[in-house]
Amino acid sequence: MRLIKLVVAAVGLLASVCGAAPSVSVAANTQLDPKGIFFVLYDGLVNVDSFQLSGVLTYQNFQYAAWYTSTGMLILGRKTLPSGAWSTLQLPHNLSTMDSHNVASLGVSPADGKIHVAFDCHSTQMFYTSSEANLATSGNSWVASRFGAITTTLGNLNIGTVITYPQFVITPTNLLQFVFRSGVSGNGATQLAEYSGGTWSNVGSWASATGTYTAPSGATSTLRNLYIHGFTYHGNRAYVTGTWREQNGAVSCSSAGLTNHDTVYFYSDDLGRTWFNSAGTKIGTSGSAPINVNTAGIIVDSLDADHGLMNQESQTVDSTGLIHAIISYVPAQCVTNYETDRPSFARPFHVYRSANGTFTKVEIPFAIQSVGRSQIVMDAQDNIYVVLPFVRVVTASKASGWTDWTMVYNGTATGLNAFGEVTLDRARIPSGVMSVLYQQTSSGTTPSPVQLIDFTLNG
Ligand SMILES: *[C@@H]1O[C@H](CO)[C@@H](O)[C@H](O)[C@H]1NC(C)=O
Ligand SMILES: *[C@@H]1O[C@H](CO)[C@@H](O)[C@H](O)[C@H]1NC(C)=O
Ligand SMILES: *[C@@H]1O[C@H](CO)[C@@H](O)[C@H](O)[C@H]1NC(C)=O
Repeated sequence: MRLIKLVVAAVGLLASVCGAAPSVSVAANTQLDPKGIFFVLYDGLVNVDSFQLSGVLTYQNFQYAAWYTSTGMLILGRKTLPSGAWSTLQLPHNLSTMDSHNVASLGVSPADGKIHVAFDCHSTQMFYTSSEANLATSGNSWVASRFGAITTTLGNLNIGTVITYPQFVITPTNLLQFVFRSGVSGNGATQLAEYSGGTWSNVGSWASATGTYTAPSGATSTLRNLYIHGFTYHGNRAYVTGTWREQNGAVSCSSAGLTNHDTVYFYSDDLGRTWFNSAGTKIGTSGSAPINVNTAGIIVDSLDADHGLMNQESQTVDSTGLIHAIISYVPAQCVTNYETDRPSFARPFHVYRSANGTFTKVEIPFAIQSVGRSQIVMDAQDNIYVVLPFVRVVTASKASGWTDWTMVYNGTATGLNAFGEVTLDRARIPSGVMSVLYQQTSSGTTPSPVQLIDFTLNG
């Protein structure tokens, strides 16, 4: 008996010393709204999208979330961390159309403590509001009257009327930036604006639609857009990975495939003004000389447009400043219908840069089982947590070289009934908690609960 205990203890010790795959434990699962608006379009929900930076956001002592309730009205929630109750307010805005792209994104400008909300656009005008100063820190009552008038400009800045994918990021210099796409799928530019001294200004486009892509078949495409897996600051550096979406469907082996191809990587050390490839060569200037499909040295994983490669998956940066991304696609065959082939055959891959500039791609040994996307985060020890669709959490330890992939939480088995794709609170990760926003699946347009599940990392 004693021997067995000793052996068990020794195995446990060995596992922790050798770095067993990290675990998670559920700290809370909170219903934010019993009746979130539900409809499926483009395989997604408007309340929970991979590209939604940020649908749930921690800033200092508070956590915020944004979603549309069953009537279509936009709701903002706030709670005091770590375990206060949620308060909600309703902004005077109704979702303009039942399109899953039209998400709400939250940001905070550190200099004046305003909360910014950008929402309800898909290649259309965008809606925007910001709060009174210091609402992010004062804890003043959570009421809609603390937010300004809703505009179709970004405050003082006119960003046009063909906008998608609003994303807020805080720079290492404590400015708030705004990343978005102008133009349309297959013919769009990736843009950057900046909030400083209380006003927004345009930094400019850093990835354009121009250039020529030639598929292995010889088919060419002369227009596209860059879809980004993130815009992540670490130290002074902004890191971007992404994939191109071609306009000409002939570059894919099937007209019902996806024209996404290649994984690209580049970075900026001056808050998104000038850009460098992995080799450190200057490749672009925002505004005047954006990156395009023919820019040299940006492809870090080559893949043609035949594999249902997903756009806007996710990325993070490790403690040594190296980029890590999750991408997913169907490895073997020509994807003839991405909406059916991805759930059946798509696999997730971990793609990361080593200090010598080499990129490594490792297949994560769990299937996507969805059209939708996965989220990658890291803890302070650089262990990886990937949230696969349906809130299935798989992890890999740094000590194993990120090879010991283990499913440590299976949201399918625990009956979460999650629709699929999730979004999460990246700003809360440093405190060791991963808050994952999901919505329960439903049918037709029957509303369903919007939930926030909190995991303690490696706990
Ligand atoms: C609010 O938006 C929803 C979803 O787009 C729509 O069905 C509903 O008719 C809208 N309501 C009003 C009052 O405009
Ligand atoms: C680069 O570093 C990685 C990780 O240490 C290593 O596996 C790989 O062999 C190195 N490649 C070259 C070309 O040195
Ligand atoms: C997750 O749970 C589902 C439902 O119980 C099960 O079918 C599946 O095999 C589980 N996945 C893993 C990797 O254990």
